[in-house]
Amino acid sequence: NTKTVGIVIGSLRKDSFNKKVAHFLTTIAPKHLTFQTLEIGDLPLYNQDFDEEGSPESYIRLRKEIKALDAVLFVTPEYNRSVPGVLKNALDVASRPYGQNAWKGKPAAVVSVSIGNISGFGANHHLRQSLTFLDMPTLQQPEMYLGDIANSLDEQGNFNDAKTVELLTSFMNTFAEWINKF
Ligand code: FNR
Repeated sequence: NTKTVGIVIGSLRKDSFNKKVAHFLTTIAPKHLTFQTLEIGDLPLYNQDFDEEGSPESYIRLRKEIKALDAVLFVTPEYNRSVPGVLKNALDVASRPYGQNAWKGKPAAVVSVSIGNISGFGANHHLRQSLTFLDMPTLQQPEMYLGDIANSLDEQGNFNDAKTVELLTSFMNTFAEWINKF
């Protein structure tokens, strides 16, 4: 049966490599997975006062969208060895009001993407630290670190190396199996 996977992309950039990678992953994923990219760029910076005084519309929309999902796939760059603020903000927004964590229990997977050689390791693992606290069972193996991304995608945004495609396909298949366990 069909599963709906939300995609959270840690870059707002128009020509984002992370956006391209996220799209590529949807094209190689098992067909029973459907994907929905979550908009996080329009969320005002989280302020706990909103929890008492009323939340922005974009917060309410995001929380509702997440609650309807079967799983979440995070595809993120690394900013200064951590997750971009825009992604952390989205995690915080949907974790509140207290006791209403929308992420809770959703199976997740993490892909980090970088133009460099450390392949977003710092962001990948800082993100995992938050996902643990948010109570999201997160796929541990295979890990997915994609480095040297500027030289890995062709003009259509496809990976041109067969071995990488094989690895990514196996990653998405394993994620699909992981989702079925919950
Ligand atoms: C970066 N970049 C970067 N790369 C990395 O591997 N480790 C890092 O710590 C950082 N730090 C960092 C900070 C800031 C503010 C920016 C703007 C960039 C480079 C980053 O990998 C590159 O810009 C990617 O292209 C970002 O992903 P998108 O936007 O292409 O998806």
